[in-house]
Amino acid sequence: MSKHIPMPEQGCDSDAILASLEAFKARDPEYKDGKVWSLVYYLDEQHSSFLKESYHRYACENGLNPGAFKSLKQMETEVISATADILNGTDEVCGVVTSGGTESCLMAVKTYRDMARDRRRVRKPEMILPETAHVAWFKASEYFGVTVRLVPLKSDFTPDLKKLKRLINRNTVMILGSAPEYPHGAIDPIEEIGSIAQKKGIPLHVDACVGGFILPFMEMNGESVPLWDYRVPGVTSISADIHKYGYAAKGASTITYRNLDYLRYQMFVYQDWPGGVFASSALLGTRPGGAYAAAWGVTRYFGKAGYRKLAQDTLEAVNRLKEGIVAIPGLEIMGSPQGPLFSYRSTDPGLNIYAVGDQMDAQGWQVNRNQHPPGLHAMVTAQHLQVVDQYLQDLRTAVETVRANPELAKQGGAATYGMLAHVPLRGMVKKKVLEMYSEQYRAGGGELDLAAGSGSGVGGGGGKGLLDSLVQRYVDYKSRRG
Ligand SMILES: Cc1ncc(COP(=O)(O)O)c(C=O)c1O
Repeated sequence: MSKHIPMPEQGCDSDAILASLEAFKARDPEYKDGKVWSLVYYLDEQHSSFLKESYHRYACENGLNPGAFKSLKQMETEVISATADILNGTDEVCGVVTSGGTESCLMAVKTYRDMARDRRRVRKPEMILPETAHVAWFKASEYFGVTVRLVPLKSDFTPDLKKLKRLINRNTVMILGSAPEYPHGAIDPIEEIGSIAQKKGIPLHVDACVGGFILPFMEMNGESVPLWDYRVPGVTSISADIHKYGYAAKGASTITYRNLDYLRYQMFVYQDWPGGVFASSALLGTRPGGAYAAAWGVTRYFGKAGYRKLAQDTLEAVNRLKEGIVAIPGLEIMGSPQGPLFSYRSTDPGLNIYAVGDQMDAQGWQVNRNQHPPGLHAMVTAQHLQVVDQYLQDLRTAVETVRANPELAKQGGAATYGMLAHVPLRGMVKKKVLEMYSEQYRAGGGELDLAAGSGSGVGGGGGKGLLDSLVQRYVDYKSRRG
């Protein structure tokens, strides 16, 4: 049984602590050389130091009460103004800086649920999401009790609008479109969805957590990007993350609304608390001043010209990667992604894409996996431009290795991901993952490694891997049902 690590009796030397913090990093991914394809948006040391310095200037300040730290409220106002500008909003557009994309998405669901409850007495709220909606929306559904109505996809991975229309009823509190969606990078047909939403009088949120700080600059560079922002009349709100393609420090996103009539429903006020009358604009109580300062700072650091250059480099990397990938026999890009991210898959039953992913990992890359259908994911930043050739060369090697060794499809991560995607009883997968995931939070922690199929802190210290355990459960289930 693992034990808690007690707090030191005495304080330690600050230099020694800082040295430990640096040393901890030895086990983390090496993102500075462009080998990681999500999670971080690193460019160079100059930019990184600037972010740290601006964060550091406000690391102790609290944005909870906008009346107290007026500096933070000023920064928030200016960040929202800059966001409204690039999203082609009018001066009516208003919003809040949040801690990240998830908070922004959660807030939109709360807003539209409460608005429908107040204005139309909707008691059993529903929201319409394309299957590709980010998981944050499913989390919001669970947290706020808003039932998801899923729109199936067409072969290009965009939602089937005929089916979307049929899902609308009097309980519908909002419709979602993404620009772009995370799994394949497709930009949903926002203009079409907007006109459906407007005709029915239903709010339309655009999840531009990924695209918000890159698609506008791609368009300014002359790229053809379909309309998806406030120029589309039906769009009532947009989430756009500064800590993704805005290259801010972690902890900065925006949620904006077409006007204050919507944003009002996001607010929380409790007037009878013994601690005083309390008002809050979003999910958090204490709000980290450092993240706001770094977000404000970075929008000034780059300005439109800087973001246009980043968008240009990113798109060059994306295009070269896509060209290189489709030139490898047996691989294809999924759908028609237009922004900074895309996924690819195998078209050859003899070439297991998850095994290709394992081979990429073995060569030092950190590549995310898709499911339904299986694929590999790439969230491309400007920094990746310098590793395009290396990535493609390693990908060719990975494909050759898997073709020469088909048994790799039945081992390691390939086997686990294949199993996770294909076990027909999805509840069983959920239960098992929940079990393993929560085990990491026992005293002393533990490590989850789904790809390896086991975890040192899982199930009392390793033992059976996820794959074995799922196979066993599935076999038991089948035998019980005869
Ligand atoms: C489309 C989309 N929405 C929302 C989110 C959630 O953002 P965060 O991880 O900042 O909470 C993501 C994250 O990748 C995303 O891709």
